[in-house]
Amino acid sequence: MSQILTQKTNQAAPKRILIFGGAGFLGANVVRHCLEQAPEATITVVDSLEPAMKSTTDSLKSVADRITFIKGDIRDAGLLKQVVPGADMIFNCAAQTSHPKSFEDPVFDTEVNCIGNLRLLTAIRDYNRDATVVYPSSSTVIGKAIGDVIDESHGEKPLDIYSTNKGVAEKYYRVFHKVYDIKTVVLRFANLYGPYGKNDPAFGFVNYFIGQANEGKPITIYGEGGQTRNVMFVDDATNIMWQAAFRPELIGEVYFAAHHDHHSVKEIAEAIVETFGHGRIEYVPWPDLRQRIEIEKVLISSARLHGLTGWRPKHSLREGLALTKQRIESEQRNG
Ligand SMILES: NC(=O)c1ccc[n+]([C@@H]2O[C@H](COP(=O)([O-])OP(=O)(O)OC[C@H]3O[C@@H](n4cnc5c(N)ncnc54)[C@H](O)[C@@H]3O)[C@@H](O)[C@H]2O)c1
Repeated sequence: MSQILTQKTNQAAPKRILIFGGAGFLGANVVRHCLEQAPEATITVVDSLEPAMKSTTDSLKSVADRITFIKGDIRDAGLLKQVVPGADMIFNCAAQTSHPKSFEDPVFDTEVNCIGNLRLLTAIRDYNRDATVVYPSSSTVIGKAIGDVIDESHGEKPLDIYSTNKGVAEKYYRVFHKVYDIKTVVLRFANLYGPYGKNDPAFGFVNYFIGQANEGKPITIYGEGGQTRNVMFVDDATNIMWQAAFRPELIGEVYFAAHHDHHSVKEIAEAIVETFGHGRIEYVPWPDLRQRIEIEKVLISSARLHGLTGWRPKHSLREGLALTKQRIESEQRNG
């Protein structure tokens, strides 16, 4: 059989792809990107369907017949021993992802976001050193930004348990590369949005705003909404995650993968209300916990990643929102 080459890199397409946390927001989009890029590949999704993360298999319903889904936990060493061998590419999107919930149960956050990653890296070391593993980290590992533009040289003073543990996990990936030659790439994302996002203020704020607008409900902004954020359409994230798995020059390091455009929270909310044609904005005082962990104005530079790969996000905020609306409506139409 002739070798299938990927469109962008001319490298051999993977035969077996393993996606942890594939029922979550980013994971469900990664699954679709993999199906598009490597339609011949065998795709296995492992997700524990954490009730606290409101995970269900609904996000995978429209692709259920094209993947193998395993309800399982990334901390389960026995399961990893079964699924890790033979995988060419591994995307680890399994995580506890709520900043507030990481305070409610910091031990759980640590178990999933630290021990989970250690279990996975150990399994790769023991059973499959040929695999490339891509890990989405978070720009919030830096804490409050110092200086006008942030890059990878910025210090790390995270403000919550989730971000602290994401920062710790990044180091595990680096160490396993340095010591065992495991092919790891860590990409730090900031405020992704798109289809399959949660309408819950405990998770990403852009997806929460989208969910509210889609249901014609009010969007609540803390304070005046003047704080700026890098926000990025999820396709731009899945695109660089995919590319990263083929780029030897990225291996072993951590990169910011953020949009070059910045918007105030107020602008983002207004763009969402306009795009969805529903919802309204309400301003409320900052809740105490949220104010204490607020990162304020953040302008992130992905120049390093751009320099190495040429990658740049393709979608403006308006374009990303229009595509999100289209896909939400299409999923709703198809039940
Ligand atoms: N969404 C963003 O804006 C954003 C930004 C930066 C980084 N990230 C990172 O991307 C990854 C995915 O985030 P998301 O927004 O899709 O979150 P999500 O909460 O939608 O998805 C996480 C998924 O992991 C699953 N999961 C949790 N614990 C598990 C376990 N022990 N074993 C197996 N599966 C488990 C959950 O059931 C859920 O389906 C996370 O690592 C997150 O830190 C996301």
